[in-house]
Amino acid sequence: MRTIPRSRLLLFVRLIVLGLTSIVLGGFLLAWSGLYNVAASRGHWAVIDAILTFGMTNSVKTHALGIEARPLDSKDLVTLGAAHFQSGCALCHGAPGVPVSPIAQSMLPSPPDLSKSMREWRDRELFWIVKNGIKYTGMPAWVAQERDDEVWAVVAFLRRLPTLDAAAYRDMALGGLTVPAQSGREIATTEATSGAVSACARCHGEKQRGPNSRLVPVLHGQPVGFLMAALEDYANARRPSGIMQPLASDLSADDRERVARYYAGLAPPATPEPPSSDEAVERGRMLATRGDPGARIPPCMDCHNTSSLEVYPRLAGQHAAYMANRLRLWKNGLTSRSSTDAIMAPIARSLSEQQIEDVSVYFSSMHAPAPGKQNH
Ligand code: HEC
Ligand code: HEC
Ligand code: HEC
Repeated sequence: MRTIPRSRLLLFVRLIVLGLTSIVLGGFLLAWSGLYNVAASRGHWAVIDAILTFGMTNSVKTHALGIEARPLDSKDLVTLGAAHFQSGCALCHGAPGVPVSPIAQSMLPSPPDLSKSMREWRDRELFWIVKNGIKYTGMPAWVAQERDDEVWAVVAFLRRLPTLDAAAYRDMALGGLTVPAQSGREIATTEATSGAVSACARCHGEKQRGPNSRLVPVLHGQPVGFLMAALEDYANARRPSGIMQPLASDLSADDRERVARYYAGLAPPATPEPPSSDEAVERGRMLATRGDPGARIPPCMDCHNTSSLEVYPRLAGQHAAYMANRLRLWKNGLTSRSSTDAIMAPIARSLSEQQIEDVSVYFSSMHAPAPGKQNH
């Protein structure tokens, strides 16, 4: 084997070191001199743009490698994702029938209209982007980093987005809410568009209409004290949810009380879900009324009945999918800093997967009492 003379090798190494040093020094001089223009109005040099895009794409692909994708075809997931997209993403990215705001359009890079021009990403890569955001672009990270379940709802919606026209998008994102045309005076004196965006009814329903997605809790007839405490916890980041935190923090304390009173006074929405299996309902009923002494689980009814404390939620008529999801989040270790979390979290952690299913199906099959019949 021919060996390279030592002196040649040294020269080679020196050249590399010199090259690297000049690149770093050149970069520093460019930054120090202030000659590179950071104006968002000007765009990047084509070569810098290409390098940045190449680096961003590869960074996302590499960091998303270990993420396991979930099934995303559930209608509840897509509907919830759509409703959040309207309040959390459309202001920058637009949506079918919702133009990108001219201010967002003037960002650099400008947020793409995701219904038309999204790069080709795998599910896990979209998940990574929505959860972590993208540095130096304005693309924000998910508000509640511990809520992967919420991020997946948005990914489920992004997959559906390219197939939606304006009417289908409206149906999904506004949840059947009709926004009446406003008079000239109303447009002139109130914020005409933001009302529909923050409207609770898009997700939680109103009057006789319950939530469109079964992953969204029924608020009808809940005690005022519980609803107000939950809103306060979201607003002060004590209860983690990337969907509810931004909405609740937009409300003043007075608004929170008014809207809590509104939902507390509503009769339960039309139909409880037909139970999927009578045996499951029966097993759930036993657990709810007698508990499971062997596993040190108290009867749920001790705290979740019509005469329980104001700050305890009622469960009769709640969606099974929402309940099971919340119980699993606790079981998998999610904690919040609300004053009531420490009461419920240890109970949820003692439940088996089967018990979570059964007890959720049982409560969702119960008729919630009309608001007048409750002790508050
Ligand atoms: C403040 C404005 C802003 C908000 C709000 C925002 N984004 Fe973005 N988003 C951006 C910008 C800017 C980019 C970067 C585009 C680029 O790198 O070319 C981006 C990029 C993306 C991309 C990658 C697009 C592609 O073609 O590669 C996805 C996906 C995305 N955003 C989804 C979302 C979702 C979902 C939400 C809501 C949860 C959201 N964004 C909220 C500004 C925003
Ligand atoms: C984009 C859909 C969406 C909108 C709009 C929305 N919510 Fe929610 N809301 C949710 C979801 C999802 C949850 C469950 C969050 C969690 O896991 O903690 C929730 C939870 C709640 C809770 C806790 C209930 C419980 O049983 O634990 C209250 C109270 C609440 N929302 C009130 C409101 C009010 C008031 C508004 C309007 C200002 C509103 N929400 C707007 C989706 C929404
Ligand atoms: C010692 C009282 C107590 C017992 C017993 C109890 N819970 Fe709870 N539960 C609570 C409190 C308090 C909360 C409110 C927690 C929070 O959101 O901070 C709660 C919340 C919940 C929620 C969330 C409801 C919502 O609208 O977000 C579910 C679901 C739940 N409990 C199910 C159960 C089940 C199932 C059992 C029986 C196995 C049970 N609980 C037993 C006190 C109790």
